[in-house]
Amino acid sequence: MGIGVLASGSGTNLAAILEAGLPVTSVIADRPCRALEVAAAAGVPAELVERRSFGLGFDRVAFTQQVVRALAPHRVELVAMAGFGTVLAQPIHDAYPERIVNTHPALLPAFPGWHAVEDALAAGAQVTGCTVHLATLEADAGPILAQQEVPILEGDSPESLHERIKAVERRLYPRTIEVVLAQLREAGQASMAARVDAR
Ligand code: GRF
Repeated sequence: MGIGVLASGSGTNLAAILEAGLPVTSVIADRPCRALEVAAAAGVPAELVERRSFGLGFDRVAFTQQVVRALAPHRVELVAMAGFGTVLAQPIHDAYPERIVNTHPALLPAFPGWHAVEDALAAGAQVTGCTVHLATLEADAGPILAQQEVPILEGDSPESLHERIKAVERRLYPRTIEVVLAQLREAGQASMAARVDAR
């Protein structure tokens, strides 16, 4: 049993999760990206479930069902989104209820959405950071599990700021995933023991 990681980008959070020794059983990407190479180099089964439409005609439910089908054979107990560029629909929450985590490059509820780093800079904020949270149907809105501040420095560009945030995410996300996984496993054992007792 282990973690299914969903990624769309450079995969540095995925690499940090792997380096932390966490049990990743599957990596899914929605577009060709470096995260697939990170998975391959680590010998983790990786699959491209390519999102072909970014327009109005995008069938989010059908795409989500494809992702769920791709995860299914890999004994996934926790799904970790690590820079995944598609907001998934209800079927993933049905398949993994309260078992999906995400990392976001801002201090939620401030600056949700895909442009969180640019938005924090444009707002003139002096501090931003990263948030690890449970994913819900509404993007970037689920219960917060961990947060860490990152100062915005004079002369920061979106790139320089995002890099400093990502350096923090790469420590905070694996640590938080480890705790969530341990809690899930404990809860699973407790409910199994309760079932045995009830016999
Ligand atoms: C992270 O900042 C994550 O919060 C955001 O996308 C970035 C992923 O970076 N959603 P990487 O692909 O793990 O390097």
